[in-house]
Amino acid sequence: MSQKYVIGNYKLNPASQQDALTLAQNLTPSACVVGIAPSILHLSAIKSVLADGIALGVQDITHKSADVGAFTGDVSATQVKDMGANFTLVGHSERRQYHGETDEILSQKIAHAFHAGLSVVFCIGETKDDYDQKRTQQVLSAQLELLTPFAKQIPLDTDQTLPKLIIAYEPVWAIGTGLTPTLAEIECVHNFISETLSTLQIFAPILYGGSVNDQNATSFAQSPLIDGALVGGASLKTDRFAAIITAFS
Ligand code: PGA
Repeated sequence: MSQKYVIGNYKLNPASQQDALTLAQNLTPSACVVGIAPSILHLSAIKSVLADGIALGVQDITHKSADVGAFTGDVSATQVKDMGANFTLVGHSERRQYHGETDEILSQKIAHAFHAGLSVVFCIGETKDDYDQKRTQQVLSAQLELLTPFAKQIPLDTDQTLPKLIIAYEPVWAIGTGLTPTLAEIECVHNFISETLSTLQIFAPILYGGSVNDQNATSFAQSPLIDGALVGGASLKTDRFAAIITAFS
């Protein structure tokens, strides 16, 4: 079986550092690669309690600079790498939607992350309207297009815990809604993503995200086309997240 990945995206949760530490302290290394992207505020405290082998990431980095500069309120790839982060999310639909992140911005973020030595979990996905209009493949291929200039920077093999690039397919309509595509639909989309990536000469694991929970994880984990999961809500519940990790291990 190929390597599987389970990554928790804490989003703007929890309200206290102590609760974030409790979640992180309960994580143990597993046969699948486990990672979490907590609030950037909690990064350093979590780093000090996280078990070896668990990847630590951030949910965002600035597109303005790879390292330093006069960008009030921003946090750079170099700074988070220095604080011990291994990866950053890029392109999450909540960033695209609420912060107007365009392809140009996302591509700058990817360049900065690679420059600083961070892996990138690149999130893509269609809206409900796109899904209803059967435009999913069209939307995803446009979203993947911005990876073209990075192809040569993404090694085929890596001895790192995390590959340099991971794709997370997250239908926007499945995030936080309790709805998911059928397994067959996800497999069809993952197959399409994999074919699109290979035409770009890029090889990356493809995770599914959007309402993954302890109930549906087992069937997703059994699919050879699903390399893991990006988990939001369920990553904030120790027992549910553990069950998802077990399913992919
Ligand atoms: P969800 O979020 O698991 O709560 O649907 C997934 C995500 O946004 O990454």
